Amino acid sequence: MLIRHAGDLTENDVTPHGLYLRRREFMAGTIALGAAGLAACAPEDVAAAPLKAAKSRYTTTEKLTPFKDVTTYNNFYEFGVDKSDPAANAGKLKTRPWTVKVDGACAKPGTYNLEDILKISPLQERIYRLRCVEGWSMVIPWIGIPLADILKRYQPTSKAKFVAFETLLRPSEMPGQRRAVLQWPYREGLRMDEAMHPLAFMAVGLYGQTLLNQNGAPMRLVVPWKYGFKSIKSISRISFTETQPKTAWQLSAPQEYGFYSNVNPAVDHPRWSQASERRIGEFIRRKTLPFNGYGEVAGLYAGMDLRKFY
Ligand code: MTE
Repeated sequence: MLIRHAGDLTENDVTPHGLYLRRREFMAGTIALGAAGLAACAPEDVAAAPLKAAKSRYTTTEKLTPFKDVTTYNNFYEFGVDKSDPAANAGKLKTRPWTVKVDGACAKPGTYNLEDILKISPLQERIYRLRCVEGWSMVIPWIGIPLADILKRYQPTSKAKFVAFETLLRPSEMPGQRRAVLQWPYREGLRMDEAMHPLAFMAVGLYGQTLLNQNGAPMRLVVPWKYGFKSIKSISRISFTETQPKTAWQLSAPQEYGFYSNVNPAVDHPRWSQASERRIGEFIRRKTLPFNGYGEVAGLYAGMDLRKFY
């Protein structure tokens, strides 16, 4: 059953109009989840509400990864390290109410409600490839807001050279945070010009619905030209910084995970090749493309040695 939470979204964001097909798709996914025995929470707990979004030109026509795979094969270490852990454990996380602390080099620091962030600009649907550093990939129809629109709202000053993101720290609801698998909270960062690139996206939904917790509800980054771990989930803090912020994976294994982490088939991970990937649902591996096929970002890295800045 689809639950619409009052106050989650404005009337402009949520509409019953034209949602029949999306609902059917979602219900198919929910049934599949149940059949696979992977849905740990009752459907009533699934905080998914339909979302209306205009199609964006930043989109691929590639075959979508099924909803079931997108929502049951996840990385979200706050809920465990196995791919099925997030779908099994993330239902406990309370994502309403949700606030985001904005601080650092900006004219409008503060603590903002999710509802206000959602009003910053109209929702768009963007179908992006997601390439995980582990060598698998998906094609996901996200719904969200260009990251640049959100960041501009807080008026970063000329001192803001980078933007850092943090995931919520709440071990009582995020059992993985009770173990020191990573230094919590999960953090990520982008250089300001990367963050302002039109492809950088803040997702609040996928497949026509609000995000399920395992995918990073209520708000997560999507940076399609970088390895998936840059796309930080369940964001509760955004900080504008003068210096390059530390990231969770860099802190954990700096020789393996760099700050930039652009998808690059020519630079292998120290322990495996990055030349090819397995698209979830396919058997034959496909070649990995530079910048995950988003070559329009190459100018951001002009003159940089991408072996050094991995
Ligand atoms: N964000 C947080 N907070 N914690 C995580 O463990 N995993 C990352 C990224 N964002 C992760 C995270 C990794 S490794 C990947 S590949 C993507 O989320 C996976 O996103 P998905 O599960 O929605 O496909």
